[in-house]
Amino acid sequence: MVDVDAFIDEATTEISDAIGDANAIIALSGGVDSSVAAALAYRAIGEQLTPVYVDTGLMRKGETDQIRETFSFMESLEVVEAQDRFLDALAGVTDPEEKRHVIGEQFIREFEREATETDADYLVQGTIYPDRIESEGNIKSHHNVGGLPDVVDFDGIVEPVRDLYKDEVRAVARALDLESVISERMPFPGPGLAVRIIGEVTEEKLEVARDACHVVEEEVAEHEPWQAFAAVIGKATGVKGDNRVHGWVVSVRSVESRDGMTARAQNLPWETLQRIQSRITGQNDNVARVVYDVTHKPPATIEYE
Ligand code: XMP
Repeated sequence: MVDVDAFIDEATTEISDAIGDANAIIALSGGVDSSVAAALAYRAIGEQLTPVYVDTGLMRKGETDQIRETFSFMESLEVVEAQDRFLDALAGVTDPEEKRHVIGEQFIREFEREATETDADYLVQGTIYPDRIESEGNIKSHHNVGGLPDVVDFDGIVEPVRDLYKDEVRAVARALDLESVISERMPFPGPGLAVRIIGEVTEEKLEVARDACHVVEEEVAEHEPWQAFAAVIGKATGVKGDNRVHGWVVSVRSVESRDGMTARAQNLPWETLQRIQSRITGQNDNVARVVYDVTHKPPATIEYE
C-alpha cells in the first residue's frame, strides 16, 4: 500500500511542475479515480483547472446532483447536459464494442468543445494502474484511456494516479477529505449504464437499469462488495395481476475483488436477495423477473458487455 501522505505531496508537486501557469482540464466522471485526480490537480493549480462533467444520461441515480454538490468548491466546474445527444447517437446500436465506440466518440465531441472554450493546454486524467494493464492487453476499449489526447492539441497529459490500485485511490480520497459517497463509491464503467443493458439502449431500459442499480447498491452496502449492480439482460414472461406479461429480466451482480481483473460472486443471504427482488419488481411494473448471477470472473466478466 502506498504511503498516502507522501503520495499526495509528491503528486501535487508533480502536477504543479508539469502544468505551471497554464490551464488544464479534466473529465470528471463521478467515480473515485477522476475525483481524486481532480482534487489533486485542484490542490496543485487551483482555478487554472476546469473540471468538466458530461451528463451522458447513462449515469447512476442522483450522480449529477452529487457531483455538483461535492465539487461546488471548484468555481470552474462545468456540467454539460448531453443526455439527448448520447441517446440519439446510441439509437439502433446493439453491438457491445460499437456501443463503447459511439459513446467514446460522443464523449470526445462534448469534451473537445469544452477544451477549446477553456483554452486548456493540459489534460488531467484519472487513469489507474489496472486501466492501463487492461488497455495494453486490449481486453476491452476504455474510453477514458487513450482516446482524448488525439483530438485536442494538448501540450501534455498528466495522470497523477496512474500507478495506484483502486484501494490505494480510495485511501488517497479519504486523506483528501473527499466525501465518503465518493471515496467509497463502487467502480462504475466509463460507458455507464449502457454496458448494463444488453442490446439497444432505450430510455425505458435505462430507467429500469438505473432504478435497479440503486436498489442493489443500497441493499448490499452492508456486505461491502467491491462492485454490485443490476443489468437488463432480456425479456421473459411474468404475471402481473391476472395477466401474462412480457417484461424485462434484471440480473443482479455483487462481486468481491481487489482490482477488477478477477472477481468472486458474493454469497449473499437469501433474505437480501429476496428484498432486492421485491423492490425491483415493485418499483418497475415492466420487470418480469430478477435473477442473481453466481458466476466468478473468469469465466464471466464483471459487466455484461
Ligand atoms: P469487466 O466487465 O471487464 O470489468 O470484468 C472490470 C472492471 O472495469 C470496469 N469496466 C469499465 N471501466 N470503461 C471503464 O472505465 C469500460 O469500458 C469498462 N468496462 C468495464 C467494470 O465496471 C469493472 O470494475
